[in-house]
Amino acid sequence: MKFFVDTADVDEIREINETGLLDGVTTNPSLILKSGRDITEVTKEICGIVDGPVSAEVTATDFDGMMREAKVLAKIADNICIKLPLTMDGLKACKKLTSEGHQTNVTLCFSANQALLAAKAGATYISPFIGRIDDAGADGMELIEEIRSIYDNYDFETQILAASIRTVMHVKEAALIGADVATVPPGVIKALVKHPLTDKGLDAFLADWAKTGQKIG
Ligand code: G3P
Repeated sequence: MKFFVDTADVDEIREINETGLLDGVTTNPSLILKSGRDITEVTKEICGIVDGPVSAEVTATDFDGMMREAKVLAKIADNICIKLPLTMDGLKACKKLTSEGHQTNVTLCFSANQALLAAKAGATYISPFIGRIDDAGADGMELIEEIRSIYDNYDFETQILAASIRTVMHVKEAALIGADVATVPPGVIKALVKHPLTDKGLDAFLADWAKTGQKIG
């Protein structure tokens, strides 16, 4: 499973990218607001940090406006992936942009039928929002399962990008189901490495090692 980081905070992106485990970045208008930066400027900086796809979202809601904004965003860097909302105009723009060779990420997906349409529109990625479905009292992970089955039934190439991830359990469950990508907030990525028994075991090894009085090298 590929790991994208879900943030527009360049310091966080740089830190996580240094691990060599980062495959891409996703942003959205709320994350741009949180960064306090200009969208073009911050997106360009992010594209220079990571080699993988960087999702940048259009804000127009009509086809022509989306196409116009997509062209502006695509000029920022070669690794831009155009993020479009799951509406009829968004799907139409997705189809057109994909046919022109752009990477596309269809976002705000809350149903399997929406994901089916996005695949038919040739989306590179579909972003089902797990956490927001859980917030509404349903099971976000069920949606990932349904999309996995549908895409496998028809060999759709659209990659399932599990989004709105809030917990380490979300990451594990998405991986078990076979999501192609998870876009994860920085704090959750860092929490994935943690296990109290790892810390306890390491402390014990280091204490015993000190008693040997040895050094490696
Ligand atoms: O990038 C979209 C998505 O991951 C949003 O997450 O936590 O705002 O529901 P959240």
